[in-house]
Amino acid sequence: MLRFDILTVFPEMFESPLSSGVVGKALKNKIIDVRCLDLRDFTSNIHKSVDDYPFGGGGGMILKPEPIFEAVDYLKQDSALKQSVPIILLSPQGSKLDQSKAENLAKNDRIVLICGRYDGVDERVAKHLVTEEVSIGDYVISGGELAAMVLIDALTRLQRNAVGSAESIKDDSHTSGLLQFPQYTRPSVFREWEVPSVLLSGNHGQIKLFRERESIQRTLERRPDLLDGADIN
Ligand code: ADE
Repeated sequence: MLRFDILTVFPEMFESPLSSGVVGKALKNKIIDVRCLDLRDFTSNIHKSVDDYPFGGGGGMILKPEPIFEAVDYLKQDSALKQSVPIILLSPQGSKLDQSKAENLAKNDRIVLICGRYDGVDERVAKHLVTEEVSIGDYVISGGELAAMVLIDALTRLQRNAVGSAESIKDDSHTSGLLQFPQYTRPSVFREWEVPSVLLSGNHGQIKLFRERESIQRTLERRPDLLDGADIN
């Protein structure tokens, strides 16, 4: 079981996206557990404010350090958080999430996710609390919540028995370092567009070869940067 503890100012954002599909099933089958802590519950001021103006001026609001440290302290006493548990801050300044990072993180049995918001998070969180800062890509979204959900989904797929067939994980884009080959289903002719005949041939050797070639060709055309690390021979 992989348990995620999420520190967020918008716990309600997690309800619907995590309730369907592979992640929803993994929650039901206790393959993963997701618990949200509302950072407002860890404030000590009467207004329950979690953010404040940046020292030095500039626009926007910065998430205060106290509620975040308090919430992690709470987790440490409430549930004997081990020293080795990753405490991840989702932010556009992090190192970029890719399949191999997902595979490494998926080996943990607990992960704490801190969702950044507003225009940033007090740097003392990154410096003195967090073990790793992770970005889901080179673009900015309005907060770490959606990024945390992306991470949860990617890690859940990698848990044993979370995805229907292990085959489908093996063939996923990026698992082998290549993009996935094109897939088709019935009907074999749709609006005069035919499925490649080799896929209907029943010749498994030819099908495997066709798919390997398509994967390599696609990667070459769309993501040549991936070929350096790819497993092709
Ligand atoms: N918060 C805002 N943008 C982000 C990104 N690209 N990755 C992770 N967290 C973020």
